[in-house]
Amino acid sequence: MMGRRGSSWCRWWVALLVLAVAADAVGCTSVSYDDRSLVIDGQRRIILSGSIHYPRSTPEMWPDLIKKAKEGGLDAIETYIFWNGHEPHRRQYNFEGNYDVVRFFKEIQNAGMYAILRIGPYICGEWNYGGLPAWLRDIPGMQFRLHNEPFENEMETFTTLIVNKMKDSKMFAEQGGPIILAQIENEYGNIMGKLNNNQSASEYIHWCADMANKQNVGVPWIMCQQDDDVPHNVVNTCNGFYCHDWFPNRTGIPKIWTENWTGWFKAWDKPDFHRSAEDIAFAVAMFFQKRGSLQNYYMYHGGTNFGRTSGGPYITTSYDYDAPLDEYGNLRQPKYGHLKELHSVLKSMEKTLVHGEYFDTNYGDNITVTKYTLDSSSACFINNRFDDKDVNVTLDGATHLLPAWSVSILPDCKTVAFNSAKIKTQTSVMVKKPNTAEQEQESLKWSWMPENLSPFMTDEKGNFRKNELLEQIVTSTDQSDYLWYRTSLNHKGEGSYKLYVNTTGHELYAFVNGKLIGKNHSADGDFVFQLESPVKLHDGKNYISLLSATVGLKNYGPSFEKMPTGIVGGPVKLIDSNGTAIDLSNSSWSYKAGLASEYRQIHLDKPGYKWNGNNGTIPINRPFTWYKATFEAPSGEDAVVVDLLGLNKGVAWVNGNNLGRYWPSYTAAEMAGCHRCDYRGAFQAEGDGTRCLTGCGEPSQRYYHVPRSFLAAGEPNTLLLFEEAGGDPSGVALRTVVPGPVCTSGEAGDAVTLSCGGGHAVSSVDVPASAWGAGGAAPTRAGASPRRRTRRSRRRASGRSRARWRSPARSPAPGACPACSPSRPLADCLWSGHVFD
Ligand code: GAL
Repeated sequence: MMGRRGSSWCRWWVALLVLAVAADAVGCTSVSYDDRSLVIDGQRRIILSGSIHYPRSTPEMWPDLIKKAKEGGLDAIETYIFWNGHEPHRRQYNFEGNYDVVRFFKEIQNAGMYAILRIGPYICGEWNYGGLPAWLRDIPGMQFRLHNEPFENEMETFTTLIVNKMKDSKMFAEQGGPIILAQIENEYGNIMGKLNNNQSASEYIHWCADMANKQNVGVPWIMCQQDDDVPHNVVNTCNGFYCHDWFPNRTGIPKIWTENWTGWFKAWDKPDFHRSAEDIAFAVAMFFQKRGSLQNYYMYHGGTNFGRTSGGPYITTSYDYDAPLDEYGNLRQPKYGHLKELHSVLKSMEKTLVHGEYFDTNYGDNITVTKYTLDSSSACFINNRFDDKDVNVTLDGATHLLPAWSVSILPDCKTVAFNSAKIKTQTSVMVKKPNTAEQEQESLKWSWMPENLSPFMTDEKGNFRKNELLEQIVTSTDQSDYLWYRTSLNHKGEGSYKLYVNTTGHELYAFVNGKLIGKNHSADGDFVFQLESPVKLHDGKNYISLLSATVGLKNYGPSFEKMPTGIVGGPVKLIDSNGTAIDLSNSSWSYKAGLASEYRQIHLDKPGYKWNGNNGTIPINRPFTWYKATFEAPSGEDAVVVDLLGLNKGVAWVNGNNLGRYWPSYTAAEMAGCHRCDYRGAFQAEGDGTRCLTGCGEPSQRYYHVPRSFLAAGEPNTLLLFEEAGGDPSGVALRTVVPGPVCTSGEAGDAVTLSCGGGHAVSSVDVPASAWGAGGAAPTRAGASPRRRTRRSRRRASGRSRARWRSPARSPAPGACPACSPSRPLADCLWSGHVFD
């Protein structure tokens, strides 16, 4: 009896539970907004978000990246949608692998996070052609991003396709999914006044808003950087390094920051940009001090521009961005941890910030105190906007010292819970370690094969002919980096000339009668350049074959799509020693897009190609050469990279997966900002204000990410290189990315923790003698004891991944550890000695 009653009771509960779960699955999260914030299920919310672009990593990496974002205190993940990746040919779609966008959103949902869907579909993003498919150019009457049917039809077709995919998978909040906001267009406000067609531009942006709203997605639509002529049915938002002084265009809508740039992108001719954790935290705290309610880090994880996806021209394969998660998905410390701390303080004040009354009080120049008050609670921000002056500010009887360019947050207006310039998180330096699976044999054994250039040298097998020099994007529909231009001329007797070619970029190789006679590429940001090479013609028919290569298409600016590439218009001339020119510009030119190897898909490494054995000599500095080697996957789980130093310019594949373009021979420029780093003052990525650049004068990118999922454990993996310009593969090696030294500082009495992450053990800890106060630094837990730096000895840890101890009763000597000093480069701040393996 008891049993029966028990079981029906149980069944009743199960039924109730199922109903509850079903109701939850159906979800119906409502999203609206008012002047203070997004309103989710009736609650005003502070939303912290971060951009992760799904094609810039692999599906295998997504759960970990998203998990780390959540642990870093984020509520939401923001991503663009990559039109030319999804629709590489008109009406032929790709939603596989790292383009499986629904799977990406499901991962966000599984992690219990929100999502921001930025459809664009023009996206900028340092992505090839700003995400727009080059085949759009084939459609008659097409005008990009203006009010015209050809463009709007295509844009609507693609937007609808994406919306329907999301709807079919119940991804919108009102369907129980994670998406709480959707974006149409991207920063149109930055260019609309420069398109020489104000009316069409205005009609277009209003059409975008109407088309988006017609999609019935049940969540608000946003437009970023659209401050004038803002359609009434979208929320305008801010992008930039700082958005505290920006406000939306009208009352009744919240203050949203869609792109807080956590660093900057990199080009082949540029060093690495770094934006300090202090400055990002300053910007975020200022934003919330000034009524912000949703902010997104662009990027939270930058990742990799695999294949031909990088834009530019000249954006590197790495899109690391100096983001809180590095290119490989490791925590970038102290940025990640410092922001995490900030997030938890902001969240603790959420209710007061979105409901409270606020008062701003200026305490003289550059110092503002803001008090938010709700019922009996209050929360305060104090900012010091001086970039060179620390200040004392007295609030309600207590005096607080604020370092220059910093914000203090006091969740109760009494105690400082966070100051943007005081970093308590450890600084970690990641290092590249040799492939331990191959310790006995560091250098790879290569075989090689020449690229077959002959079809374009002397015979006439082009796709078509034209008596003019054509633009490359339109001619090749951007299906390849390469476009051949070939012509011939009859010459009486022998003759010496200079071949002169004027091209709009990005690289050019010139062959005469099958022989490479010259090459050149764009430099210093000037994409128009000339090639001038001496050439000897023979009696009779001579062939001139010019190979033009692009290195990522432009992605930004008014009419960016019209920036030409290739030898468009030329001129191409043969100039004799008297200066007399034979102008070949209007000769009959034969065209062919792509190299022979692209048609034969050599990168798939199918059997049947004649590779020259690895016992013979491997050619060095030989242009247009394929190299192949096998290697064992590095053991463990650390990220894997391939060091391509010694090579010149080309493309690398691992097991058929395209790692992207490589160009380690390109040296990053020395720029203003190379040798100084000070977090204080407004950060700039361009112009005089640039700062904190590293890698100046070094190869702009020597390491290329090989995601673990590209590798087969324990089996021979194939590394294939197409070396276009001539290089030396003998130094190429696989490496893993592991924690190197880490360092931390604390104020007197702080508990200090060091951790290596990724399952690595602490090996030894050095503590500067000056920081070893009278009471001594006592380890409280851990594998490694702190050691006085004077002893200098290293001690093996017992395999624990964390070391924790309490700082002495007095503060460490100034300069003992990083972050204490605003103006020191990272390397100076590290305590000497290796802390971790
Ligand atoms: C913004 C743009 C982004 C990205 C960023 C710089 O202007 O909206 O897509 O290009 O600049 O990384």
